[in-house]
Amino acid sequence: MNRISFLLIILGFVCFSCKSEDKNKVENNTVNINGLLQTRYSKLLEYELDSLAFPRSYSHTNKLINKVPSKDWTSGFFAGNFWQIYKLTGDVAFKERAKQWTAFVEKEKYNAGTHDMGFKVFCSFGNGLSVEDNLDYKNIIVQSAKTLSTRYNAHIGSIRSWDFNKDRWQFPVIIDNMMNLELLFEAAKITADSTYYNIAVNHANTTLKNHFRPDGSTWHVLDYDTITRQVRARVTHQGIADNSSWARGQGWAINGFTMAYRYTKDKNYLMQAEKTAQFFINHKNLPEDGIPYWDFNHPDIPNVSRDVSAAAVVASGLVELYGYTKNKAYLNYSKKVVKTLKTTAYILPANLNIPFVLDHSFGDWSKKKEMDEPIVYGDYYFLQTLLRLNALNTTK
Ligand code: GLY
Repeated sequence: MNRISFLLIILGFVCFSCKSEDKNKVENNTVNINGLLQTRYSKLLEYELDSLAFPRSYSHTNKLINKVPSKDWTSGFFAGNFWQIYKLTGDVAFKERAKQWTAFVEKEKYNAGTHDMGFKVFCSFGNGLSVEDNLDYKNIIVQSAKTLSTRYNAHIGSIRSWDFNKDRWQFPVIIDNMMNLELLFEAAKITADSTYYNIAVNHANTTLKNHFRPDGSTWHVLDYDTITRQVRARVTHQGIADNSSWARGQGWAINGFTMAYRYTKDKNYLMQAEKTAQFFINHKNLPEDGIPYWDFNHPDIPNVSRDVSAAAVVASGLVELYGYTKNKAYLNYSKKVVKTLKTTAYILPANLNIPFVLDHSFGDWSKKKEMDEPIVYGDYYFLQTLLRLNALNTTK
C-alpha cells in the first residue's frame, strides 16, 4: 500500500471518529491528521539508527532528545511505533526500519534484572510477530518469557517488579507489571507450555486481590512480606501521594486486565477493568477533553500537567474493552481522546525535527524527569488506539 492509500484509510478513520458529531463544531485548531501525521512519520524514517541509543523523550527546556540503551524500560516502544505505522500505512520502509530497531532490543532477552521485559520485548518483537510469522522472533519472545519467569515467586504468587529500595521494600509489585503478562501469555501459546500461562494468571489474581481500592482505583506499589505473603505496604512511587490515583497507573490496570481477559476469558478480570475504567472516565477531576492530570488527586489541580500517555494507554484499552462489553461509554472516551490529540494543543509543531508526534506526556515525578514532554510511549499507545479503532471499523 502506498501513501495515497494510507491517506484514504486515515480519511476513513477520521470520518468514522466524527460520525456522530456536528462537523460544524469541529474546532478550527484541529490538525489535518492526514498531512501532519504523514510528515511526522516520514521524520521517524529519517531518524538515525543507533543500537545503543533509543529515542525516549524530548526536553523542551534543553532542546535535546533523551536517548537510552536497550535495558531501559522504554526501549521497545520506538520499534513498536515503526511496526504500528507500517500496519497503518502498509509502507514497507517502516517495516524495514521496524526490523532494524527491533533487532537492537534482542540482548534484553537475558536481562533478569527487570520486570519490564514485556514492555521491551513484546512492544518490539511482539508487534513484529503480529506482522510476520518469524521463528527468530518467537524464540526471542520465549527466551524473554523464561528470563522474566525467574522473577516469579510462587509463594507470593507474583512477579517481583523492582530490585531497588531494598532497605524499604521486601518484594515490590507495581500495577504496571500487568502489562508484562502479555509476553507470558504469548510464550505459552507459542510453546504450549502452560508454565508461562500459570505464572501470568497467578500474578493477575494476586494483583486483583490486593492492588485495588473499593472505588476501583489502584495503588501503584504493593510491598509483600516474603515469609508471610501478606501486604506490608500500599504506597506510591510515581504518584503524588500513597493514597492518590496516579493516572498512568490506572491506565496500566485498565489496559492490563482487559488484555488478561483476552487470553483467559476470566470474567473477574473484565469486571476489574470495567470498575477501574468507570473510576477513570467518570472522575470529577478528569478534564472535559479526556486528557487526565498526571495524578487525579494532585492538590494543585487545575494547575497541573496533563498526561497524554495515560490518556492513550486508557483509550487503547477501552477500544478493546468496548469490543467485549459493547459499552459505548468506553468507545466514546477513546474517540474523544483521539479527537483531542489531533489538535494543535497536543500535536507537536511540524517544524520540530524530532521522532515523536505527541506532546504533554508526564514521565516520572519521583525523578522529576520528563514532566510535560513528548515521550515515546505516548505515541505508541496513540498509534495502538488508531489501529484498534480501524480494526473495529473494518469488522463492523
Ligand atoms: N512503567 C513505568 C511508567 O509507567 O512510568
